[in-house]
Amino acid sequence: MKIAINTGGGDAPGLNAAIKAATIAALRKGWEVVGIQNGYGSIYTDTPFLPLTEESVYGIAMKGGTILGAANRSNPFEMAYQIKDGTWDTEDRSDVIVNTFREHNIDALVAIGGDGSMFIANKLVKKGIDVVGVPKTIDNDIVGCDVTLGFDTAVSIATEAIDRIRTTAKSHQRIMVVEVMGRYAGWIALHAGLSTSSDVVLIPEIPFSLDAITRKINEIEDTGKKYAIVVVAEGAKEKGGELFVRSKKPGQAEVLGGIGEHLEKALARKTGKEARSLVLGHLQRGGTPSTYDRLISLRFGAAAIRAIDQGDMNKLVVLRENSIRRIPISEVAGKVKNVPLESDTILTATDIGINLGK
Ligand code: F6P
Repeated sequence: MKIAINTGGGDAPGLNAAIKAATIAALRKGWEVVGIQNGYGSIYTDTPFLPLTEESVYGIAMKGGTILGAANRSNPFEMAYQIKDGTWDTEDRSDVIVNTFREHNIDALVAIGGDGSMFIANKLVKKGIDVVGVPKTIDNDIVGCDVTLGFDTAVSIATEAIDRIRTTAKSHQRIMVVEVMGRYAGWIALHAGLSTSSDVVLIPEIPFSLDAITRKINEIEDTGKKYAIVVVAEGAKEKGGELFVRSKKPGQAEVLGGIGEHLEKALARKTGKEARSLVLGHLQRGGTPSTYDRLISLRFGAAAIRAIDQGDMNKLVVLRENSIRRIPISEVAGKVKNVPLESDTILTATDIGINLGK
């Protein structure tokens, strides 16, 4: 048996632990293991695969990033290239993957990635490649999965940052707007906003009203508390408003951002208070994974090898009610798991007086 491992999309804390568990579990079965570098990037080079040995994964479980490299723009079905006039176009280069897998006798692919990677994995399955997926993304937005690797660390980092923001907000009696990642789902904002008892939490699932936020801030002021913390997901939008998109290139996911700065200005204008905003950005993806993420990543990595060993291909290993299960990759491809509005986390936020922008 010879397997390849790749880490697709943006990096997330815990990737190395998943690579380690998959590699060691496979080597212990006598299989050969190789890594694909930079998303699918290395496939198009003279050295498409990096051999993975016990030595190459020694001591990596506690390290952030991915030893295989990551790329948010290596969708083989829509590879972007620049035309002479400077504009961009895309082409389908997925055959290169299929042929390279055949030439190198790769029996199965462990695709560690988020919704975009599972979309690609599902298309590779249709081209005859056997794939087992591992759910990775700080956004926690993969359907059918209670939690994805990387989410816990991202929420912890955001929580610590917001705690720190609170002391300076209080000293200066300001509104502090903290923009967090999460793409089109509000998991990071909701969990970090609730954990820090922030005053306002804005998520993509609930389009917000500036008047409602202003009312909340004025109410807080009336109680004698002179500062406010607003946590906003990068994908949140005003009722009837548009997403804040920083850039979009062919074959790549759009890059969101800017809602925090927008809110800073709007709230300063509407409340007459001083306001500041900051974007936590890639801090949320960097550094050491939390204990929870290490553990879940090791469990996912080893579970992927068990699935391959049992010939149970084209599945995503997921966590449900703290047990590892397998679901067809086709069930998750191209879908987004949003925060359910009836979830108890939303109810808790409301119960303890957090304003959700309405
Ligand atoms: O999907 C993970 C994520 O960090 C999102 O939360 C964010 O919108 C995006 O990736 C940022 O992508 P990039 O690393 O390309 O800036």
